[in-house]
Amino acid sequence: MRVGLLLLVFLWEAKSQPASRPNIVLLMADDLGIGDLGCYGNQTLRTPNIDRLAGGGVKLTQHLAASPLCTPSRAAFMTGRYPIRLGMASHSRMGVYLFTASSGGLPTSEVTFARLLKEQGYSTALIGKWHLGINCYNTTDFCHHPLRHGFDYFYGFPMTNLRDCKPGSGTVFSEAYWWLVFFPLQILGVTVFTLAVLHFLRLIHVPIWVFIALLLLVGLIVSPFLCFLHYFRPFNCFLMRNYEIRQQPMSFENLTQRMTLEATRFIRRNTERLFLLFVSYLQVHTALFSSKDFASKSRHGIYGDAVEEMDWSIGQVLNVLDELGLASNTLVYFTSDQGAHVEEVTSKGEMHGGSNGIYKGGKANNWEGGIRIPGILRWPRVIQAGLEIDEPTSNMDIFPTVVKLAGASPPQDRIIDGRDLMPLLQGKSQRSAHEFLFHYCNAHLNAVRWHPPHSKSIWKTFYFTPNFTPEGANGCFATHVCLCFGKHITHHDPPLLFDLSSDPQETKPLTPATEPRYHDILRAMQAAADDHTRSLQKVPNQLSMWNFFWKPWLQLCCPSASSSLSCQCDREKQGQSMSN
Ligand SMILES: *[C@@H]1O[C@H](CO)[C@@H](O)[C@H](O)[C@H]1NC(C)=O
Ligand SMILES: *[C@@H]1O[C@H](CO)[C@@H](O)[C@H](O)[C@H]1NC(C)=O
Ligand SMILES: *[C@@H]1O[C@H](CO)[C@@H](O)[C@H](O)[C@H]1NC(C)=O
Repeated sequence: MRVGLLLLVFLWEAKSQPASRPNIVLLMADDLGIGDLGCYGNQTLRTPNIDRLAGGGVKLTQHLAASPLCTPSRAAFMTGRYPIRLGMASHSRMGVYLFTASSGGLPTSEVTFARLLKEQGYSTALIGKWHLGINCYNTTDFCHHPLRHGFDYFYGFPMTNLRDCKPGSGTVFSEAYWWLVFFPLQILGVTVFTLAVLHFLRLIHVPIWVFIALLLLVGLIVSPFLCFLHYFRPFNCFLMRNYEIRQQPMSFENLTQRMTLEATRFIRRNTERLFLLFVSYLQVHTALFSSKDFASKSRHGIYGDAVEEMDWSIGQVLNVLDELGLASNTLVYFTSDQGAHVEEVTSKGEMHGGSNGIYKGGKANNWEGGIRIPGILRWPRVIQAGLEIDEPTSNMDIFPTVVKLAGASPPQDRIIDGRDLMPLLQGKSQRSAHEFLFHYCNAHLNAVRWHPPHSKSIWKTFYFTPNFTPEGANGCFATHVCLCFGKHITHHDPPLLFDLSSDPQETKPLTPATEPRYHDILRAMQAAADDHTRSLQKVPNQLSMWNFFWKPWLQLCCPSASSSLSCQCDREKQGQSMSN
């Protein structure tokens, strides 16, 4: 009886007091698939800490990345807006940044949730991957840097982890090497050989300078290639603290430990004030890595080791929140930036990409496998524990949600595409605030999702689909990622139509014979797509060739004592003091 009364009082208090502003902890994995987590049905990968988070909060089962690629998805996440509105959707083949010395990035005119929370007095930090640009004009303007987008503190990786960042892990440039180096070298080789044979058979006379010229040409082709190989890693794979380079090239040794320590120290420094902590893991993008404690421990090779180490790190962050008594006053969110990269299979057949569960496709395409991501939110006593929500939600929704919780309001002078999640999370609404969602393949409108009011159906139309290679595969293995143009896609007119509520695997396209409302559905979705397209404004293209390519005058290089050209330093080893 007394217990019941106490419970009643407790419930009444919890309901009547408006929840005060929470701390915000955002955890994002890279390229993790929805099928990789225990709480989403994986039975062989061990993710106890993420599962614990899910058990104490809400699990979203139709949580969607705004783009199936890192740079645009993260840009949308930070701003609550479709990448195309930011100029962060590519019109060419390259959809993400590959060089730190690119001039493109998240425009300073855009407003991130970090900036709005900082204005509300939050202490803000980004630990880990950024991938949204660094500089515009010179090596000191830092126009795209996290510290210019509302973060007080940054420790991490301004670019993205790539195979080329880890010696012996291979390269993402193999196709470019083939066309720019090996192919011309082969032609030159055959030419020299043929000329030499003809010369010695005395069929023609080839002056010696022709041979010398051809050899010089070989040198001209090979030397930039060797330079590129030699410098790619230090130039693009380095670790920063705020504006300072800490480690160039970055070492993978204990990297997750170091990041975790940075994250927990940030929380400990901020027990007396509100904070926003965004931990953006380099895992589980290739090159895969894990520390000794996790190597060869999982049942899924080096990929599984990386997932399990990241899960450990998340456990450390949750433990510190518990230890300091902050858990009940903290909204924790876990997600991935897009689906798993299914084409990541090594030449030995080892899987370096994750699992998208039952869903088709993966990273770089808009089949559900590319965009349906884990979405877990926990805020004890405010959000109901153990709830599962299947309504369509977007990673753009975090922006309006945390901005409102912090007591700020979203900017009124621009379109915000994300929607406040709290009504859904608190059970005050049963319906997603998104009637339509638009799925882009780079800058091309690829698919539309419609969840009509008063209906269970989730319609999805495709204007084009990627051509999987080899035929029958579940990905574009010939190009390593699916592409959005030309011979890499098949156009559909009328668009392909699926009902995800009955066909989440997208295997049964509907026809007027199988769906009586077929024409009405397509008409309504086309009208929504047209409205959306009309709402777009012309903005500078941050992923144009000019903004994408390496610019020598933007190259950040940490001056070392021995030689200023080597671009090498390791301040992590020297000073283990991680003060701020
Ligand atoms: C770098 O560019 C910024 C913005 O154009 C300018 O204000 C600054 O003076 C430049 N710095 C140097 C060292 O040239
Ligand atoms: C990495 O961590 C291990 C175990 O804690 C330690 O022995 C090793 O010295 C660390 N390496 C570096 C470079 O800090
Ligand atoms: C669990 O994850 C591993 C690694 O990605 C994958 O190979 C396996 O198929 C997944 N299991 C399920 C049931 O999705």
